[in-house]
Amino acid sequence: MSTISSLHIAFLGGGNMAQALALGLRAHVHSITIIEPLEDTRERIRVLMAPKASAQGASLQVVASAEVIEDKVPADWLVLAVKPQQIASALGGLSDATRRWLGAPPTLSILAGTTLATLSSLLGHARIVRAMPNTPALISEGMTALVASAEISTEQRIQAEALMRAVGQVQWVESEALLDAVTALSGSGPAYVFAFVEALVQAGERLGLPPHQAQMLASQTVKGAALMLSESGDLPSALRERVTSKGGTTAAALATLQDGGFNTLIERALRAAYQRSIEISQGA
Ligand SMILES: NC(=O)c1ccc[n+]([C@@H]2O[C@H](COP(=O)([O-])OP(=O)(O)OC[C@H]3O[C@@H](n4cnc5c(N)ncnc54)[C@H](OP(=O)(O)O)[C@@H]3O)[C@@H](O)[C@H]2O)c1
Repeated sequence: MSTISSLHIAFLGGGNMAQALALGLRAHVHSITIIEPLEDTRERIRVLMAPKASAQGASLQVVASAEVIEDKVPADWLVLAVKPQQIASALGGLSDATRRWLGAPPTLSILAGTTLATLSSLLGHARIVRAMPNTPALISEGMTALVASAEISTEQRIQAEALMRAVGQVQWVESEALLDAVTALSGSGPAYVFAFVEALVQAGERLGLPPHQAQMLASQTVKGAALMLSESGDLPSALRERVTSKGGTTAAALATLQDGGFNTLIERALRAAYQRSIEISQGA
């Protein structure tokens, strides 16, 4: 994280994602400013961040509006972390000085479905990196895909990647269009896993297990399998084959899943999410 140790990061929006990012970054950047209109949320941020921020060096400023910041030294990065439907009003209606201040630094946007072109017209420049994180970022286990506009330098790419590493793993994609595929896979993916756990629990209960036990067995099984996958470095197919003895119980279950069109159904689900992501980006 040494590439970002001298940076000042400003967040527009201090909600769940901004809090997770700021918390992950507090030990690695020089200073953090969070602009958040809700007093309760500002107080939560101060409680969450203040003690450790002072112990670990990152200074923290939490304000209700960019207008009240007197010392308008441009941040090194502006992170857009409001809801997509809030961005136009958040950037509109500002004084010229504040607009210039917010428009000066390169910008990292985590807004789902808001394109580089839209962001560029709202910000008045095109030095933008778009990030598509997912919910496990809230516990620093996120999967974020990044895409940069042509105006972003190599050094800025390295910095943007280091910023998002504060909440998990990062991958660059070649083109903005691929963010719809990312949304379908890792963006919406945690919900597919939750739905899979629900189905396991329901089936376990129907086989006679008490609900709380079925829940525990299913959750820990998914957690353990996910950890094996990430820690072993083996392909999922190799891990699956290792636990599937010929004629055994796992083979019987997997054959049933395949007979029922499991892979085809997953592909159809991802295609539906992909299509919906395109529609949302186009304002539908
Ligand atoms: N959560 C996820 O798992 C996830 C995953 C992928 C992408 N994202 C993206 O991340 C972004 C943030 O999501 P989130 O879950 O963190 O949402 P959130 O908790 O609702 O955070 C947005 C925050 O921005 C504040 N805000 C509204 N207007 C503002 C303004 N004019 N100036 C400054 N701050 C303003 C909101 O305040 P109020 O409460 O007063 O409205 C709220 O605290 C979204 O664009 C979403 O698409 C989230």
